[in-house]
Amino acid sequence: MGIITLRQLLDHAAENDYGVPAFNINNMEQGLAILKAAYETDSPVILQASKGARAYAGDIMLSHIVIALSKMYPSIPICMHQDHGNNEATCMTAIGHGFTSVMMDGSLESDQKTPASYEYNVSITAKVAEMAHWVGASVEGELGVLGSLETGEAAKEDDSGAEGKLSHDQLLTDPDQALDFVKKTDVDALAIACGTSHGAYKFSRKPDGEILAMEVIEKIHKKIPKTHLVMHGSSSVPQYLQDLINENGGQMTQTYGVPVEEIERGIKSGVRKINIDTDCRMAITGQFRKIAKEKPAEFDPRKFTAPASAEMEKLCKDRFERFGTAGNAQNIKVITLDEMSKSYAAGELKQFN
Ligand code: 13P
Repeated sequence: MGIITLRQLLDHAAENDYGVPAFNINNMEQGLAILKAAYETDSPVILQASKGARAYAGDIMLSHIVIALSKMYPSIPICMHQDHGNNEATCMTAIGHGFTSVMMDGSLESDQKTPASYEYNVSITAKVAEMAHWVGASVEGELGVLGSLETGEAAKEDDSGAEGKLSHDQLLTDPDQALDFVKKTDVDALAIACGTSHGAYKFSRKPDGEILAMEVIEKIHKKIPKTHLVMHGSSSVPQYLQDLINENGGQMTQTYGVPVEEIERGIKSGVRKINIDTDCRMAITGQFRKIAKEKPAEFDPRKFTAPASAEMEKLCKDRFERFGTAGNAQNIKVITLDEMSKSYAAGELKQFN
């Protein structure tokens, strides 16, 4: 079975200049949509579950979905990642349920509302990295707080998101601090803040450099070229999906996401993991609404979930192709957690000595 760690997958992506979308999942339909798209495009996969998703589906269900998907699609390497782990317990229980990677989000305190001090972030992230590496699992840290440069506010996703007004200093990752953070924590990947935020309402206009600071990513990459960078809040909130929802009774106000071409630019500057949840939610909800409007007598849920999954699959396929992930699954020979743990213990995976 091809269950892969984040570190191995992102090392391969860096060596071959591509990015990997990390799609959030809560249920079987989303898992199938992602894996069908991955199979059609020969792409390795990152599935990620937030604390909210774990509470919704249950750890046993989620971990069995991943095992089932890896049996159905044995040629596709799958990384199972904890999105926005809020403390050591969330991260360690994820690993206990078979996740091969965790995000320790120490940019916020454990309540996932209060922006944390730098010292707190370093200390908790280093601790989680040390423990995860014992068993070969990977760790993503976060430096800088996600939120909008237009409003200074963060949108909540599954109960994670800063409360109150944030300053530009908090909203943009400092490249020098990023270097210090990676040295002190030994993370495998670093999520940075550059003006993206979770959810559909990211920008009030098509973003330019003032509200989406891609040049910050370029500066960070120059400082820490070996560190895999992660872009959160990277849904593009496509117009066609806003229209699909609104033409079928929805009431989303006009909004703008992260243009795919900006993500492609990020990939050229060390962005290897690109988090996407909202676009998949919109694809599913758009089709639900369409069927409900066009066929009001329909009561078989499969008549809703099948077109919804197909809409999501189309979106995933597009991102695998645009990010250069396509065609790479067959080139990866999966390294086991046990072998990864030995490499960590031997110091072979350190970025700084
Ligand atoms: P979106 O809301 O832009 O899809 O971002 C999801 C995300 O970053 C999950 O961590």
